[in-house]
Amino acid sequence: MTTTLWLGISANGMIADKNGEEDFLSEETGELFVQQVQKTGCVIMGKTAYSRINKNLPGRKSSLQQVDKIFLSKTSHQGIDEWLSAGSPQESIEMLASRGHKNITVTGGTKTASSFLTANLINEVVLAINPVLISPGYPICTDEKLLANLTLMSVQRKSNLIVVKYTVSNHI
Ligand SMILES: NC(=O)c1ccc[n+]([C@@H]2O[C@H](COP(=O)([O-])OP(=O)(O)OC[C@H]3O[C@@H](n4cnc5c(N)ncnc54)[C@H](OP(=O)(O)O)[C@@H]3O)[C@@H](O)[C@H]2O)c1
Repeated sequence: MTTTLWLGISANGMIADKNGEEDFLSEETGELFVQQVQKTGCVIMGKTAYSRINKNLPGRKSSLQQVDKIFLSKTSHQGIDEWLSAGSPQESIEMLASRGHKNITVTGGTKTASSFLTANLINEVVLAINPVLISPGYPICTDEKLLANLTLMSVQRKSNLIVVKYTVSNHI
């Protein structure tokens, strides 16, 4: 099983601005995200990211129609359309594994990425780094106790983006 954390970020590691908007990320970042999700056939995200896609990003929503989609929530058990909900990162992975998925895409937001990383459930991290610095904003992760060492696997330039892929080599 490969569980990939896929995030579009600023050059200083922000995934959203202070209002939760991602306007500073390029259109190509969104296209690469959709390609990744379509490749794995599934995606897990937090309830805030799920709500944002379904309310504010109709293009992104329709491009995810054919994939298994799960949002994390301890409080909401009913998703709209074909979205499923899971009460924990472990449960979401088990749900997708039971549907036959061997490769899983996890994305943000911050709370979700932090939960997966600190539970040591991520074995690959892909970051699409945009040429912008932004502050304040939402970082990749906020857990004070996290230390995950990464091994660099590849670096690709895609127009003005740098896409880096790491495996998680050890986790303390
Ligand atoms: N740049 C990127 O690649 C990217 C990707 C995704 C999202 N984002 C941005 O991230 C921002 C949102 O980040 P966020 O941290 O506020 O929210 P989030 O992670 O999207 O969602 C947080 C909610 O998800 C649920 N959740 C998270 N971890 C959980 C766990 N371990 N167990 C059960 N439920 C869990 C909780 O819902 P309940 O309160 O209902 O329990 C929590 O309140 C948005 O602005 C979005 O645009 C950026």
